Amino acid sequence: MKKSFVDWVGELIHRDSPAAGLSLDVGCGVMRYAESYRNRAFGCDPRRGVVPAAVSVADALPFADASFDFATSFQCLYYVKDIDRAADELLRVLRPGSVAIVSVSGYLHLLNEHFRASRLPQVHGRAWWERLFASVGFDLLDVNLPPRYHTPSLRGQVSHFVRPYQFFRLQVPSPQAQA
Ligand SMILES: C[S@@+](CC[C@H](N)C(=O)[O-])C[C@H]1O[C@@H](n2cnc3c(N)ncnc32)[C@H](O)[C@@H]1O
Repeated sequence: MKKSFVDWVGELIHRDSPAAGLSLDVGCGVMRYAESYRNRAFGCDPRRGVVPAAVSVADALPFADASFDFATSFQCLYYVKDIDRAADELLRVLRPGSVAIVSVSGYLHLLNEHFRASRLPQVHGRAWWERLFASVGFDLLDVNLPPRYHTPSLRGQVSHFVRPYQFFRLQVPSPQAQA
C-alpha cells in the first residue's frame, strides 16, 4: 500500500527528533503530527483554541534562546509578516547542533493552503528559501520531496503528477563543527 503524506511526514519527524529534550512546532495548527515526535513537543500558533501550548506568531517566539532540541514548521512560514525574522527566531530558540524541518508548498498547492489558513501565502521558489535559511545562519542538510501519493479527490489526482511540497532539513551550526 502507498504511504500517505501524513505518514511520510511523520517518519521524517521521527527520524530527526531526538529521544530526549524538547521540540517546537511553529504554526502547528491542530498539531496533526504530535505522535511522531520522539520527545516532548510544544506547538505554537496565533490561532487560539487549536494549540496545546503557546499562542504566538512565528516572528516573535515567546521562548528563551536555545530552548529546544528540534523544531518543525509545516506550511506556515509564508504566512508570516516578517519571514526573515521568523527564520532568525527559529534559529535563536534552537540549541547549537539541532535540526529543524521546514516545509513550504509548491505553486499548485498554494490555493489549498489559502483555504487551510484563510489567508493567501506569499510565493517564493526553492532558491529563495535556501538563501533565506543560509542568511540567518542555518546549514542546509537536504531538501526532501514527498512521494507521489493518491487520494480519491481531484487534488489527490493532481498531486500524483506534481510534487507539491518541499521539506528543508536545516541544522544550527555547532561551535565544535566550526572549530
Ligand atoms: C496551512 S496551516 C498548517 C498547519 C500545520 N502546520 C499542519 O501542517 O497541519 C498554516 C498554519 O500557520 C498558522 N499561521 C498563520 N500565520 C502565522 C504566523 N504569523 N505565525 C505562526 N503561525 C501562523 C495558521 O494559523 C495555521 O495553523
